[in-house]
Amino acid sequence: MALPFAKSLCFCPITASNCLALNQIQNHLEMVRKKIVAGNWKMNKSYDEGIALVEQLLDELDMDKVGETHVIISPPSVLLQPITELLMFTPGIAVAAQNCHQEESGAYTGEISARMIKSIDADAVILGHSERREYFKEDDSLIAKKMKAVLANELMVIYCCGESFEERKTGNHIAVVEKQLRTALADFSTKDAENIIVAYEPVWAIGTGEVATVQQAGEMHTHIRKVLADIFGDTSQNMSILYGGSVKPDNAAELFAHPDIDGGLIGGASLKSNDFMSIIYALSK
Ligand code: PGA
Repeated sequence: MALPFAKSLCFCPITASNCLALNQIQNHLEMVRKKIVAGNWKMNKSYDEGIALVEQLLDELDMDKVGETHVIISPPSVLLQPITELLMFTPGIAVAAQNCHQEESGAYTGEISARMIKSIDADAVILGHSERREYFKEDDSLIAKKMKAVLANELMVIYCCGESFEERKTGNHIAVVEKQLRTALADFSTKDAENIIVAYEPVWAIGTGEVATVQQAGEMHTHIRKVLADIFGDTSQNMSILYGGSVKPDNAAELFAHPDIDGGLIGGASLKSNDFMSIIYALSK
């Protein structure tokens, strides 16, 4: 399988003399948990608006400040190809689809497949977002099928999990998220796990302006890592766990300071380049 985020890992040109050093660096990077900020645009931005937003990011994002943080942009599907092309020579910024069908091709009007997403050189697919679960009735056994398709096409998965307000209020949040993880991830290998990013997104915090406290998010992330360790052993230490739900420039740094929060999945704030850049810099510090 191709190196995950191969584009992002190329820090210097390969020559015979630095080839060994590069291998060592890559081996090291593969062992280190990646810091990631992903922008989920949802169903926002026309073609021109989307291109303009990426061009503004390309103009203004200071890659020295971004450092080793990986940035992912997840636009609506009509924008996947032009944005992938725009970013082709920008190490450090990857492109993710927001969903895909579990089958490779066929009579599934309105759907796109992981194979199609791979064919335009995108890097990843978001799966299991609570909006897909709620409005399109996706459950973890369907999400697992989609994950198989995505990994078979050598793409990364951003797997979303999270509890509803009701589930948190009744104290079931930890059990709910654990069940989601165990159902969706049960049939995957440690090799697969290298290409899975988990995003904890409490449903009550998505698009509501109500952000989880560091304590609430941290408690869940620590538990998610324990569950991942149970499923995938040591590989879990290298898996990134992102927090999502009303992350904004003014709360990002505090959340990202928690040792088990490896970055964020950003909705509303990823639609404004200044806000998105501030959140990226908050993680890069
Ligand atoms: P939000 O969305 O940042 O607008 O709350 C996050 C998400 O749904 O991924």
